[in-house]
Amino acid sequence: MVIKVGVNGFGTIGRRVADAVALQPDMKLVGVAKTKPDYKAQLALKKGYPLYASGEAGVGEFEKAGLKVEGTVEDLLKTVDIIVDATPGGVGEKNKPAYEKARVKAVFEGGEKARVAAVSFVAQCNYDKAYGADTIRVVSCNTTGLCRTLHTLDSVFGVKKARATLIRRAADPEDIKRGPIDAIVPDPTTLPSHHGPDVNTVLPTLPITTVALKVPNTYMHVHSVSADLRQPVKSEDVIEAFQRAPRVLLVGKDEGLISTAHLFDFARDLGRPRQDIYEICVWRESVMVVDGEVHYLQAVHQEADVIPENIDAIRAALKSADVEKSMKTTDSTLKMLK
Ligand SMILES: NC(=O)c1ccc[n+]([C@@H]2O[C@H](COP(=O)([O-])OP(=O)(O)OC[C@H]3O[C@@H](n4cnc5c(N)ncnc54)[C@H](OP(=O)(O)O)[C@@H]3O)[C@@H](O)[C@H]2O)c1
Repeated sequence: MVIKVGVNGFGTIGRRVADAVALQPDMKLVGVAKTKPDYKAQLALKKGYPLYASGEAGVGEFEKAGLKVEGTVEDLLKTVDIIVDATPGGVGEKNKPAYEKARVKAVFEGGEKARVAAVSFVAQCNYDKAYGADTIRVVSCNTTGLCRTLHTLDSVFGVKKARATLIRRAADPEDIKRGPIDAIVPDPTTLPSHHGPDVNTVLPTLPITTVALKVPNTYMHVHSVSADLRQPVKSEDVIEAFQRAPRVLLVGKDEGLISTAHLFDFARDLGRPRQDIYEICVWRESVMVVDGEVHYLQAVHQEADVIPENIDAIRAALKSADVEKSMKTTDSTLKMLK
């Protein structure tokens, strides 16, 4: 079975999802949709991706710019099994009735409210819950990062309670509208942040409280996580659990990977497209156990960690593979290290 996939929204996430879909042996990228006929539209055509017009501007704006378009999003919906909606947060919910009308399954992103979809999704946590679902929401980059490591700890040792402080990149590299450029901003000042409740959309029984701060950089978030465990452990046990966990990469002094700048450089030399790091990077030396509580630091590449999840969400929705097979195919096509 070849799954016919459309991608609505060709920005930070949509472009990466489209490239990842194009790599899958069991998927066909039928087309991508944009509102503006800008350089990203030109690049889509250069890559051979059929282009569709979304929003009010319609087909005319693209034709005026000399760009070939196949039609509107409505036309795209007639030809796909599933649409990945990678439009800005809140727009996906507005697009949902069109997907329902076309009887097309939909994957939404983490900027949408959880109510947009039947299941909030992280493959290694709840793939089976999403099996056959008509609507799936791949949770945000931060929530994905927290779920991958906390689910690992909860499955192996049991987590009584977790707390996390998120140091967030302020903007994506191409984003010229957001700051700060010289401040550390509590985000929000009224605690807790929304990330804990968002983790609970995937891991409903895990008690977690989160705090978030925005800092002036564009590549990666860093999380300081603490989890009170149900059984006595040593730091080596936790490191071993992370070693076994899918999509979690242990990094540290041995390799000289001691900052997000080093991770960026590493991804560049790995030849990763756009320096993308799909894995959650846990600093090995940061793993510390005190009085039954484990503490660790992890880095999350905000533009990339949700990409494998989008691919697995497509297979789960279409019931085309079980979790192991789907994650294995995704990870090998994206050349993931783990
Ligand atoms: N960026 C991240 O780090 C990140 C990480 C994880 C999850 N997410 C989530 O992924 C989703 C997409 O985020 P993104 O960062 O990829 O957004 P983005 O870079 O701003 O891209 C959004 C895309 O949607 C298109 N679009 C369609 N309808 C639109 C409308 N009504 N208004 C404006 N643009 C519209 C835009 O087209 P034009 O360019 O032609 O206008 C653009 O291609 C959001 O839910 C976000 O929360 C983002």
